[in-house]
Amino acid sequence: MFPVDLKSDTVTRPSREMRQAMFDAEVGDDVYGEDPTVNRLEETAARMTGKEAALFLTSGTMGNLVSVLTHCGRGDGAVLGSNSHIYFFEGGGLSALGGIVPLTADDSSGVIHPEEVERNCRPENVHFAPAKLLCVENTHNLCGGLAVSPGQMKDSTDMARKHGLSVHMDGARVFNAAAAWNCPVTEFTSLVDTVQFCLSKGLGAPVGSMLCGPADFIAKARHWRKKVGGGLRQSGIIAAAGLYALENNVGRLAEDHRNAALLASMLSEGGLEVERNPKPTNMVYFHVPEKAAKDLHVRCEARGVLFNAASGGRIRIVTHIDVSREQATAAGKIILEEVLSS
Ligand SMILES: Cc1ncc(COP(=O)(O)O)c(C=O)c1O
Repeated sequence: MFPVDLKSDTVTRPSREMRQAMFDAEVGDDVYGEDPTVNRLEETAARMTGKEAALFLTSGTMGNLVSVLTHCGRGDGAVLGSNSHIYFFEGGGLSALGGIVPLTADDSSGVIHPEEVERNCRPENVHFAPAKLLCVENTHNLCGGLAVSPGQMKDSTDMARKHGLSVHMDGARVFNAAAAWNCPVTEFTSLVDTVQFCLSKGLGAPVGSMLCGPADFIAKARHWRKKVGGGLRQSGIIAAAGLYALENNVGRLAEDHRNAALLASMLSEGGLEVERNPKPTNMVYFHVPEKAAKDLHVRCEARGVLFNAASGGRIRIVTHIDVSREQATAAGKIILEEVLSS
């Protein structure tokens, strides 16, 4: 039963069957395009997202970076949310490596509203970094794991098109968004030029992300991947885990959402302030008084329930393939007991 690790959906460990698929993987040198398993993974990801081509990368951060570097040149502007993962948590890579200017937009609701897109598309003028790209995030991590609706996404992407911008989606968890809205993932991916999604989060693979888009874009992105050191050799070993994840683990994501909903209602019924969002997925954010927040994660860890330290009294817990309903229930009870006894 314990430990129950709710730090993130990145903590999953490959199952026996996934490890077997890795063991059995046919491999070759992927920098030469000769790894049959990587090629199969890229074809599968492109087909599933309705794009012409796809590229296998080591991480979501690399997928977003390579995409933004491919979309924009030095001095170009990328419109992105001030709470977005690309802006907040990826080390400023787009500026450090690409000289790209982040044009930050309000995404405090999880969505960059069309007026915010428009505000950043200033007229041609030598003083302004020209906006070339809109980046959207779905599900939105910092905004509660919110699954933004296809309709809301379309409002923003339509405005971007009106101003001649391309659109990239940080869809690290876009399959969670599709599960939450009970729709094909292509409802989201068809709205954007390029999408990055992670294999190593809710889908349960140990490593890897996919960047999907038009064939000519992916050909250029392949150059950028090499330049940032992401050209791998016999990477079919890890691509096999990603393929296994796409073939077996997409259909079960709603189970993680049900477990997160269970935790949310346990904590809220126990008197904690739980953040609500219109379309939750596998994350629960809740708030605890300062006194309880200080070492809550340490006390819970001692009882086998793991999550990160509170930030300003705000705590995130995340469900995933390695957390069963029984474990979620047990974890919820322990968290409540520890908050109430502090
Ligand atoms: C929304 C989002 N995008 C991108 C990433 C980056 O993924 P990685 O940790 O594989 O670099 C994360 C990681 O948590 C994320 O939550």
